[in-house]
Amino acid sequence: MRRPVVNKDIVDYMRTHLQENKGHLAELEAFARKENIPIIQHEVVAYFRFLLQTLQPKKILEVGTAIGFSALLMAEYAPDAQITTVDRNEEMIGFAKENLAKYDSRKQITLVEGDAAEVLQDLDTDYDFVFMDSAKSKYIVFLPEILKRLKVGGVIVFDDIFQGGDIAKDIMEVRPSDSGADRTGVCTDSLLKPVKGNCSGYC
Ligand SMILES: C[S@@+](CC[C@H](N)C(=O)[O-])C[C@H]1O[C@@H](n2cnc3c(N)ncnc32)[C@H](O)[C@@H]1O
Repeated sequence: MRRPVVNKDIVDYMRTHLQENKGHLAELEAFARKENIPIIQHEVVAYFRFLLQTLQPKKILEVGTAIGFSALLMAEYAPDAQITTVDRNEEMIGFAKENLAKYDSRKQITLVEGDAAEVLQDLDTDYDFVFMDSAKSKYIVFLPEILKRLKVGGVIVFDDIFQGGDIAKDIMEVRPSDSGADRTGVCTDSLLKPVKGNCSGYC
């Protein structure tokens, strides 16, 4: 973890006690770590296993595919779900296409190429589970479109809403590369107010 928000010992404890990924997920996780491609952390994998097995969503939207790791994880734990995943980065799209062709055995996942700012406006499906994992500063921009497409009782999960702790700092103390923290903060504040779905963020 690059910038842990929670106590490092707790993170280490979780990481040494959690169930390991197996098969293609272990392979993709190792590839992402080697290539320094940010995918969900191990404890988030554990959270998703629990959440998806419990909710069993049927329509999932993901913003931020990268190599397809989290989409394939969701496919494994929500086997009846249709998953739409969006990414705009050509290199990531190339990796994701390869991985989905190999490992999406039930053909659950549709990769939509393009900027979420445009793609989200064209969606014509309602979702019962949304995973937001793109540029954090854009969450507040995407939220209105996401809420239009969220079924009543649906769940949105936002990755890294505390921006590695930057959200609690004065904006002048935040590294320029992380200065999206102020806008992420606006989003996090919005999430703390009631909306028609259930929002969940983790750090
Ligand atoms: C953290 S990675 C996603 C990791 C993936 N969810 C996983 O855990 O396996 C974030 C991805 O979001 C994509 N992204 C960032 N901003 C985006 C945007 N505006 N529209 C579409 N994709 C975007 C990036 O190209 C990158 O591949």
